[in-house]
Amino acid sequence: MLAEKHYRPLLHFTPAFGWLNDPNGLVYKDGEYHLFYQYYPCDSVWGPMHWGHAVSTDLLSWTHLPIALAPDTLGMCFSGTATVDVGDKSGLLNGKDGLLAYYTIAAEKRPDDVDFPQSQGLAYSHDNGRHWSKFSGNPVIANPGLQDFRDPKVFWHSPSQHWIMVVTTGQQVSIYRSTDAKNWLFSSSFGDGHGAHDERAWECPDLFEIKIEGSTESRWILIVGVQREAYAGGSGTQYFVGQFDGERFIDDHTPETVLWLDHGRDFYATQTWADIPHSDGRRLALAWMSCWPYANHTPTQSWRSAMSMPQELTLKPTNEGLRLHHAFIRELEATQVTSQPLADNTYTASTTLLETEWEAAARLTLHVTLDDNSSLSLTPLQGTQLILSTQNGFLTLRCLRFAARGDETYEQQFPHDYMLALGANRKISLDLLLDRSSVEFLLDDGRYAVTNLAFPEQGPKHLLSVEVTTGAVSINNAHWHTLALPQT
Ligand code: FRU
Repeated sequence: MLAEKHYRPLLHFTPAFGWLNDPNGLVYKDGEYHLFYQYYPCDSVWGPMHWGHAVSTDLLSWTHLPIALAPDTLGMCFSGTATVDVGDKSGLLNGKDGLLAYYTIAAEKRPDDVDFPQSQGLAYSHDNGRHWSKFSGNPVIANPGLQDFRDPKVFWHSPSQHWIMVVTTGQQVSIYRSTDAKNWLFSSSFGDGHGAHDERAWECPDLFEIKIEGSTESRWILIVGVQREAYAGGSGTQYFVGQFDGERFIDDHTPETVLWLDHGRDFYATQTWADIPHSDGRRLALAWMSCWPYANHTPTQSWRSAMSMPQELTLKPTNEGLRLHHAFIRELEATQVTSQPLADNTYTASTTLLETEWEAAARLTLHVTLDDNSSLSLTPLQGTQLILSTQNGFLTLRCLRFAARGDETYEQQFPHDYMLALGANRKISLDLLLDRSSVEFLLDDGRYAVTNLAFPEQGPKHLLSVEVTTGAVSINNAHWHTLALPQT
């Protein structure tokens, strides 16, 4: 097993020590991107939940700040949201703009409880999140008699002049509204019979409006986490495209439509940044780069888990309807140290078209066209293989991952071998981002995203190889980049 320092990502957020899970309270204010996160500082496995806190101006270099929220006599601080209260609508901020945070209070279990009793709490900050006060009237929403009632996302909805909260209630989300950020009225629920479900509650909802690219229209996107039976097995993020009128979310698709935001195994509890200025206009998403079935067992000791690379989401028309597309944040371009172009060419089996060593972080961008009955195999580092193939005019991606030695759960749960159907064969773009313990892959101009952890046994130098294993493959506009953290 490689020393854990060789697994600490270069470009992805990790806690200095301790355990991390969901991103919480992603909000932009006064030039800073805030990242709060589920944090247990006393061990590198899940424990009594705090909100860790870090800030960044470029989403790549992060400054760790003191813990924002810690457990109190009411309970632990589970996932939630932060939002700018412009004009002190809550009356908690002495007439000035400030930050509100909503989190789930998870109380101690009583003898018959299956889960921690959950209600919604409010905290506020006058100084850009450096200090927080918990609202004296907590909880702001008491538990309505549900085992699962958690992960509030709150935003100001101008058309209805209300704060909106979307929160999971079992296998649904419920929508609440408020004018003062403290008293909440139930509006509606959504989810029964829609999209993907397993036997557990949905988690970590987000709800936001996004423009349809190339149009003046927009849609609302509802994001929810599926705990155990997502696309690639384990935890994953699904989304719905629809309309929202301030009280109700209406799905544009038929109830059986299932849309996965990412087709990997390590993209969970996805949240988007609130309050990014209109002049920027981006919808930026971040996910916890892990998966509950093995999250507590990955092979690091003093810290555990990382966030994904932040991604810009856009909504584009496709043959199947409107679909979210992903792009790595443009800030990533500043990390490029070297960029080597590869000549446009057609390669036949069995040719290695690229074999190169890399260390720390790297990126491969290219366009590929596969003849029918052809395959291209990418091995970015030891233990991970991605195979793009064509058969009978259709493109597929096979994702393979092996486990290095570890504990029993890790060895059983971590490996995988699954397929992703990519539709009719065509020229498609690939964007592969590699860091010390992750492989993030965007295909077809970001129409498909695949995020997977990787813990190679060999390192710190890795070998990437790209081979044509059958048929013929043409590549063009290919570049191999080595990356380093930008100097700040
Ligand atoms: C999702 C989740 C949330 C909960 C938090 C606890 O990963 O289970 O539903 O609030 O983690 O840490």
